[in-house]
Amino acid sequence: MESDNSIGGNGSVRLQKYMADCGVDSRRHCETYIVAGRVAVNGTIVTELGTKVIAGQDKVIFDGKLLKLPQERCLYLVFNKPRGYLVTASDTHGRKTIYKLLHDIKTRVFPVGRLDMDTDGLLLLTNDGQFANKLMHPSNEIEKEYDVVVWGEITDDAIDALRKGIAIEDGFVTAPATVRKHKSTETNTSRLSVTIHEGHKRQVRMMMRAVGHTVKQLTRVREGKVTLGNLPSGKWRELTADELQSL
Ligand code: URA
Repeated sequence: MESDNSIGGNGSVRLQKYMADCGVDSRRHCETYIVAGRVAVNGTIVTELGTKVIAGQDKVIFDGKLLKLPQERCLYLVFNKPRGYLVTASDTHGRKTIYKLLHDIKTRVFPVGRLDMDTDGLLLLTNDGQFANKLMHPSNEIEKEYDVVVWGEITDDAIDALRKGIAIEDGFVTAPATVRKHKSTETNTSRLSVTIHEGHKRQVRMMMRAVGHTVKQLTRVREGKVTLGNLPSGKWRELTADELQSL
């Protein structure tokens, strides 16, 4: 069963926990207030104990008063995610999640967007729900650059197709992408730098499949002006003011 402490992928928490964090009362007492119909979320009374809210986004009213968390410093982090870690708060199959590597962060932070388990590289993390939602909105066409190694020798025609935009598995047609070919150091592989601004699930892998190649290695190296630089794998750092401004 999901615990009261669990944080959803979008940073949501159970209502009773949020109320307790706001200093209303203990979680158990808050549960009784919810069941008694004393709590409204975004204008609607809720009596369900499974209700989840996102701090900084949902408006929670208790006995007519808007609840606020004690002032928490907003954190904006860049994390170099290693391959083999899931980007989720908890996994029902017991697999390793990124939170195993983030235990030194005392505040709850959640990922901005996603990276597949087998993808490594740049992942933004924050405790600022509004910032995360704004950044993930499709209208925010922020550039994401990937270093991609595929099996086989990729042709110029395939690269042109990727540049123009291509229909991927589920019928989605990708927007034009910036694609550069680099010298690959391994035999029977090709190395590309691919820059896109969409965030379709498994997009880069599906783009490569659409031109007949399987991904051997996929690393996100840049989002907007934020780059991995020499941040070691499994480590995080705070964004600089300039980087934050650029997002
Ligand atoms: N595209 C993918 O296919 N996977 C990722 O993790 C990110 C982009």
